[in-house]
Amino acid sequence: FQPKVLAGKRVLITAGPTSEPIDPVRVLTNLSSGKMGYAIARAAREAGAQVALVSGPTALAAPRGVRRIDVTTARDMLAAVNAEVAGAEIFVAVAAVADWRVKETSSSKLKKSAGAPAGLEFVQNPDILATVAALPGAPYCVGFAAETEDLSRHAAAKRARKGIPLLVGNLAQEALGADDTALVLYDDAGEHPLPRESKLAAARRLVAAIGQRMASPAAK
Ligand code: C5P
Repeated sequence: FQPKVLAGKRVLITAGPTSEPIDPVRVLTNLSSGKMGYAIARAAREAGAQVALVSGPTALAAPRGVRRIDVTTARDMLAAVNAEVAGAEIFVAVAAVADWRVKETSSSKLKKSAGAPAGLEFVQNPDILATVAALPGAPYCVGFAAETEDLSRHAAAKRARKGIPLLVGNLAQEALGADDTALVLYDDAGEHPLPRESKLAAARRLVAAIGQRMASPAAK
């Protein structure tokens, strides 16, 4: 039995990688599988929420009862989030958004015969989570951090930089593509490690923690 801790709440989630074109056949992306974000979408739905899942390209099926909006690039993801955020009470940014995109994409395939490209110029993508967190009347914002080392230091700094009440950290080399993970929650009260378990079990625990914080605004 799962208590319906998010009954009637509207939850918006981003998940998966983004994919940034270089030319019509090549992209810049990352190793995110989408499993964590999809597990959170499922757990939030089970907890009684109305869930919209803005997803980059993944091989996963949308959890039952979850509305999925498919996107490709970071800019698409931001546009979809902007279109969905009004009325959302909780925003969970799990997507591994590409930090950079190629400044000028080629409309035709770069040919090998032309030799290696002299250099690609990059521009920074918008920060979707920071954008939402800065909105007037922003939803309760939860961020994710996958780090390869110094998790506590990076995660605490990231929470402050993004201006969000709750940040969830895990180790990239353990979590990427895996079926299980060990999450650590960072909030105003400090650091709360969760056990290593399946991503679905971890997602249910995270949803319960979010529900608790929503129920007692002082804890936000
Ligand atoms: O500092 P970093 O960008 O790695 O922070 C990761 C968190 O920010 C994740 O919650 C991720 O979904 C979110 N993010 C975002 N838009 C970006 C980059 C990260 O929403 N362009």
